[in-house]
Amino acid sequence: MFAVYAARTDAEDPLSGLELGEQPEPEVPNGWTTIAVRAASLNHHDIWSLRGVGLPTERLPMILGCDAAGVDEDGNEVVAHAVIASPGWRGDETLDPARTLLSELHPGTFAERVAVPQQNLVPKPPELSFEEAACLPTAWLTAYRMLFAKANVAPGATVLVQGAGGGVATALVMLGSRAGLRIWVTSRSDEKRARALQLGAEQAFEPGARLPERVDAVMETVGAATWPHSLRSLKGGGTLVVSGATTGDPSPAGLSHVFFRQLSVVGSTMGTRDELEQLIGFCVATGLRPPVDEVVPLRDARRGFETVAAGDVFGKIVLTA
Ligand SMILES: NC(=O)c1ccc[n+]([C@@H]2O[C@H](COP(=O)([O-])OP(=O)(O)OC[C@H]3O[C@@H](n4cnc5c(N)ncnc54)[C@H](OP(=O)(O)O)[C@@H]3O)[C@@H](O)[C@H]2O)c1
Repeated sequence: MFAVYAARTDAEDPLSGLELGEQPEPEVPNGWTTIAVRAASLNHHDIWSLRGVGLPTERLPMILGCDAAGVDEDGNEVVAHAVIASPGWRGDETLDPARTLLSELHPGTFAERVAVPQQNLVPKPPELSFEEAACLPTAWLTAYRMLFAKANVAPGATVLVQGAGGGVATALVMLGSRAGLRIWVTSRSDEKRARALQLGAEQAFEPGARLPERVDAVMETVGAATWPHSLRSLKGGGTLVVSGATTGDPSPAGLSHVFFRQLSVVGSTMGTRDELEQLIGFCVATGLRPPVDEVVPLRDARRGFETVAAGDVFGKIVLTA
């Protein structure tokens, strides 16, 4: 079958290992099933994989892609939960120390077909297109958990989102504003700041800007480039939720801010299958839809990868099989 895969990894030149072509059909272990992929969205995770992060050489070649929406073997429209727990794991899949994401140990979603555990299938409601549904399992699910399970904020609270243009960041802006949070954003680009305001952000700032007042919570996925500003921007007792570090680990860590103003620094990763179902319900109930920056045929996937690697994306890039 046709697939988009990592043939090699290179920390400095990630796209050099990206190849498109024939790959074997996925193996289907007991309790697993296959989905005919209709749409799959790109995440920064796919760039990390090409850099070799979480993808050791012995697992190559590896079909990339965490997120998919498609049709299962019985003809049902489904979304795949991307977190693969180890056999027999019970409870929150994201706490399984042996969990992986699709494309880390098992072939990913940038292919005509993908195998997933039966329990990872979530019904796709007719209100969402395949392209919209394919945006939800990684970026949007991560944002949902950050805001509604980890941030410890109630409607009316002010939340700063660092790096407004990203897949997780745009989801944070839309979910948070729809839930009654006052969302403030930073972005390096004028245009992305303006678009974040259109998506529901209340105010938009340049990176590092002094804010009119301190905020109740900060959502971090950028890492070193924005971390000092995140710590400075929180009220005493505020919460910094971190789920990514695109620009690397911050140094120094700013511990004096953390203890002196009694901040909580909370890690967050993906979300459970149940949270994915709740997120889909939230989208149906509110009419919220992920902003799709571009839909690219699977055979032109390189173009989508170039956009994400360059940080030029606003929202999500979706590949269609
Ligand atoms: N833990 C998890 O479960 C989980 C899940 C999803 C994502 N993540 C991680 O979260 C991060 C974001 O993922 P994504 O898919 O949303 O990525 P993305 O769509 O590629 O977005 C990257 C974001 O980083 C900002 N950015 C990039 N370089 C920057 C720089 N030098 N200075 C300031 N901002 C910069 C951009 O903001 P502007 O261009 O607007 O400034 C953009 O919002 C990645 O590191 C990813 O691995 C983790």
